[in-house]
Amino acid sequence: MGRLQKILIPFLGLVLAFWFYSARENFKPEMLKGKRVIVTGASTGIGEQMAYHLARMGSHILITARTEAKLQKVVERCLELGAASARYVSGTMEDMAFAEHVVKEAEASLGGLDMLILNHVGTSYFGYFDGDVGHVRKLLEINFLSYVAMTVSALPMLKESEGSIVVVSSMAGKVGFPFTVPYSATKFALDGFFSSLRQEFSIQSVNVSITLCILGFIDTGKSSHPSPSPCPTLPFTALCHRLSPFTSQHTLGSLGDPTKKQSQNSVLSHAP
Ligand SMILES: NC(=O)c1ccc[n+]([C@@H]2O[C@H](COP(=O)([O-])OP(=O)(O)OC[C@H]3O[C@@H](n4cnc5c(N)ncnc54)[C@H](OP(=O)(O)O)[C@@H]3O)[C@@H](O)[C@H]2O)c1
Repeated sequence: MGRLQKILIPFLGLVLAFWFYSARENFKPEMLKGKRVIVTGASTGIGEQMAYHLARMGSHILITARTEAKLQKVVERCLELGAASARYVSGTMEDMAFAEHVVKEAEASLGGLDMLILNHVGTSYFGYFDGDVGHVRKLLEINFLSYVAMTVSALPMLKESEGSIVVVSSMAGKVGFPFTVPYSATKFALDGFFSSLRQEFSIQSVNVSITLCILGFIDTGKSSHPSPSPCPTLPFTALCHRLSPFTSQHTLGSLGDPTKKQSQNSVLSHAP
């Protein structure tokens, strides 16, 4: 009996975890055709790749980050790939007025919004916490408060379109690890805010989905956030893969599909 419990309970746990975190397979690229999407942190890395996927699927895309020259190139590439339209707004998410301005820009230029993809991340360090409260505050503003500000500004449009909010987070926002204290704190804050908000939406029958993406390590060539590397030394080894991000439609499908109203947490760390 004891042996059965030792095997059965972990097995049941694994099955439930798989069921809870699995992406549904009924995603179709047409679902994103003509949708109006904001992608933050889209000048490089995962955000850039998401913009290209959305472009291939024929979405209207508004991207943002600080580096104008990079954003210009991403917009050009999006148009080549088939975006219904592509534009950018450059600025820093340290400034909440800028975060709100990006949403207003979507309203003015796209006439509404179907999906808000919050992905940008400020630079932090990988090492013992150095006691710099100012750094924690700044990182909270970039990685957390600007997400909240954009969500609040975008909600009227998202309610109207019955749209989606996609929040790109990390394993470091689910489990505390050493050497990523400020970064981890900001990602935990995202989970607290968006998971609670999702519950409220459910109670209030607000038809806006919230998807929190829990990423393991992804080698984008350049990551400004403190991803533990090499990842095999850390407990989330099983979730660490070195891969080009978002190389399949399946992956973007997992990010939240505006035609589906269920909300979930997605672990995105599978091979392409
Ligand atoms: N890559 C991974 O292994 C990994 C693992 C777990 C979670 N994630 C999450 O995935 C998301 C994307 O990560 P990534 O690896 O693609 O990062 P990345 O390559 O460093 O890109 C970060 C993006 O954020 C922008 N950004 C940085 N500071 C900003 C600021 N103050 N204001 C506005 N935009 C700013 C950057 O553009 P500018 O510099 O031009 O502003 C860039 O477009 C992040 O939320 C990260 O936490 C990544």
